[in-house]
Amino acid sequence: MAAPKATVWELAPHTRAKHAILKRYLQAWMVILSQAKFPEILYIDGFAGPGEYDKGDPGSPVIALQTALDYRPPLTAKIHFLFVEKDKERSAHLKSLVDKMTLPANFAVIIEGGETFEAAFGKHLPAYQRNGRLIPTFAFIDPFGWSGVPFSIVQQIMRQRSCEVFVNFMYDEINRFIGHPDQVSNFNEFFGTTAWEACKALTNPRERNRFLHDLYIKQMHEAAGIKYVRSFKMSNDKDVTDYFLFYGTNELLGLKKMKEAMWRVDESGEFRFSDATDPHQAVLFGNEPNAEQLKRNLLGQFKGKKAKVGEIEDFVVVHTAFRETHYKKVLKNMETATAEIAIDWAPEGRKRGQYGSKDIVISFKP
Ligand SMILES: C[S@@+](CC[C@H](N)C(=O)[O-])C[C@H]1O[C@@H](n2cnc3c(N)ncnc32)[C@H](O)[C@@H]1O
Repeated sequence: MAAPKATVWELAPHTRAKHAILKRYLQAWMVILSQAKFPEILYIDGFAGPGEYDKGDPGSPVIALQTALDYRPPLTAKIHFLFVEKDKERSAHLKSLVDKMTLPANFAVIIEGGETFEAAFGKHLPAYQRNGRLIPTFAFIDPFGWSGVPFSIVQQIMRQRSCEVFVNFMYDEINRFIGHPDQVSNFNEFFGTTAWEACKALTNPRERNRFLHDLYIKQMHEAAGIKYVRSFKMSNDKDVTDYFLFYGTNELLGLKKMKEAMWRVDESGEFRFSDATDPHQAVLFGNEPNAEQLKRNLLGQFKGKKAKVGEIEDFVVVHTAFRETHYKKVLKNMETATAEIAIDWAPEGRKRGQYGSKDIVISFKP
């Protein structure tokens, strides 16, 4: 998919799905941060676009503003929005849309037009720091390609408490240009390492795909020190990877909310959207959760062992594609139908098939 040249362009079905995820997640993010009573929060849209598509659908910066406006009761924290768009016509278009919106006094919007994300981030960072720390931030990094997305910015953001990144990794474009001699320094910057060079020797497309995906995850964990990382894959109807979305957070609650947003995506038939973190466990979203697959995940981890319900839930949320709302049905079946688990301890009065207390101890048969 070549990058469009026009100021506004057509909204692809998978972009609509990406926007639905962003909106649902931002709704949850705003709840979490306002309940935590942070006085200021920051939404960064590093590759903001023009704010709308050719048929009038909103772009990501307008979605973020509208989500914050619709929040009830109204948000009282100061919300900073930093929208960066290198193309001056696109940024002017975005500005004209934002100017038409009636925004409350606690919304502070900066539109950096004609600037790169990297330059604008460096320029504004000091203004978003309090006592040397960045205020709680959600950074959406949504480029057309790979240049201008230095991994050092991901590291800088994620070094701070309560900050999160959501990166669109344009796999298709990256894969096509990764051997190009002019792009070496851009790829070094993008991955934050020269290790991507090893992919040039891989001729099998699947191996190459996995290598680049896994390298970015590794960098997020190891070079940026992010505790929870998940990746999601958007494929076209021929099952070719279009892009990955990488989400990084240090908060378990954030991870739960992002997975919730992912599971609720509606597929149009023109794309397939799946959890891609584990190559052997690709789980499609938009479908009923696959109970057999979740059971295999549970047995892989707990077979022959004892575990509290709380531990099982953490495992499901952190290490599988599934949600905290999915696993109890599977446990119930394993207890009441197949007898693959037994209850070692439970509070008085617990009924079979119920796992309300996180302290219930479950014994998985060997
Ligand atoms: C994929 S589009 C963004 C779409 C938008 N986030 C949305 O979801 O509606 C990427 C945008 O980044 C802009 N861009 C390209 N390089 C940039 C850079 N280095 N810094 C900031 N913006 C850039 C492009 O002009 C384009 O409008």
